[in-house]
Amino acid sequence: MTTYLETEFDGLVDGILERGYGVADSFLAPAQVVALQQQLTARRAAGQFRAAGVGAGQTTVEKSIRGDDILWLDTATATAEETAFLAKIEAFMAYLNRTCYLGLAGHEFHYAHYPAGSFYKRHLDQFRTNAARKLSVIYYLNLAWQPAHGGQLAVYLPQPDGTEKTTLIDPIGGRLVCFDSGLLEHEVLPAHHERLSLTGWLRRAI
Ligand code: OGA
Ligand code: MN
Repeated sequence: MTTYLETEFDGLVDGILERGYGVADSFLAPAQVVALQQQLTARRAAGQFRAAGVGAGQTTVEKSIRGDDILWLDTATATAEETAFLAKIEAFMAYLNRTCYLGLAGHEFHYAHYPAGSFYKRHLDQFRTNAARKLSVIYYLNLAWQPAHGGQLAVYLPQPDGTEKTTLIDPIGGRLVCFDSGLLEHEVLPAHHERLSLTGWLRRAI
């Protein structure tokens, strides 16, 4: 069994509890970020991606809402670097279950590719009809992200006084962002350059 430094898991949890989202910038080694970016590119070149859908079944393609194309990871066909990513996610889940009693029982992750000009309008990740998605996790694979590339993640944080605070998070390669899927509304601002990530959900058994 691999053990990991738990200080960054702890930092993610503190972020979620204290301000609604957690950020970790060294979840994996830099070489692993490069390997995952190359894996995404190879799988896309092989024609494995499909336009992402919206709605409960996520079957309706609606580019005015979201314009990314995605590929779900499948543990049966995962490469070594994808398996290493999921192993670290599973270590994080075990940590969350041990320290926060979240009862996380599974995960689902997809690669996402936003072409230049695409976005994902403000939304909540949890479906009204199904609360299994407990935590949202986004792991960015943009190796040379620059402000001119746009595509920031906007998070809308409700304030105690009833107002709302908007924070923009840069989708820098190697950065992991995590938040409560049922609480935090968010949006992908228009990308002006292709924008890459691994995005997924830690699920409860319900
Ligand atoms: C999503 C999403 C945010 C991001 O896929 O549901 O909100 O920064 N992604 O890619
Ligand atoms: Mn989302």
